Amino acid sequence: MKITPNRPFGLVLEPENPGDDIRDLDVEQVRELLWKERLIVLRGFRTFSEPEEFPAYCERWGQISIWPFGKVLELLEQNNPEDHIFDNNYVPLHWDGMYRPQVPEYQIFHCVKAPLQGQGGRTTFSDTVRVLEHAPAHHRALWEQATGSYQRKMEFYDSKTVSPIVDTHPLRGYPVIRYNEPPKAGFGNFLNPPTLAFSGADEAQLHSSLRDALYAPENFYAHEWQAGDVVVADNFSLLHGREGFETKAPRHLRRVHVLSNPPLDNPRLVSHQ
Ligand SMILES: [Fe+2]
Repeated sequence: MKITPNRPFGLVLEPENPGDDIRDLDVEQVRELLWKERLIVLRGFRTFSEPEEFPAYCERWGQISIWPFGKVLELLEQNNPEDHIFDNNYVPLHWDGMYRPQVPEYQIFHCVKAPLQGQGGRTTFSDTVRVLEHAPAHHRALWEQATGSYQRKMEFYDSKTVSPIVDTHPLRGYPVIRYNEPPKAGFGNFLNPPTLAFSGADEAQLHSSLRDALYAPENFYAHEWQAGDVVVADNFSLLHGREGFETKAPRHLRRVHVLSNPPLDNPRLVSHQ
């Protein structure tokens, strides 16, 4: 495979010969790269023609986290959605599994259909390890004092999570940021938003400094999808979200959560139903 840097972080892996099958790659080798780089884009490989082939591939990465809907989340715009995940608006930065009993280590996405150029809908990633490395000492000190409290009720749970903004990577021991960004001011149409509260630091300063750092070009990557792309992200180190997209744009992603080995019981979950 061909390995090239993805800017500003991560790697792009492409086949030596167009159409080489993704299943011929050594998952342990890709896992090793992900461990170092935190985001892997696999582009140009032959991928999955039947829906069940995708979770079958993900099983090679580890134990799949099972949701009430099964192993695979179909990310598709819905008519009259009950939750912002299924509309076409922007999704603020967050980490996956924050409201679940176990937090997945990996998110694996497969792009079935991609929006056309100019229609938006990029998946956004912020590398919080880089954010902390680049942060001036006074910002870091501010973040280290702060705690976020998050409550969310949706179809699959009614949960509360309380986490320090600067937390520790559960496997690596280095500091990471755990933060669910409040919807941007003036954004009036956010369906079923979580209830957020922050303590320990001046809120306005906290949000503006975090947002500036998380979205700074040296820490932030927005993935523009092409059909067939597979993206693997380190959910313990990165935060992610989504850009808005044109309604009815052909955007269809599938997403699987893979647990660490052993699975990580959510250290910050306060209540869950
Ligand atoms: Fe998410």
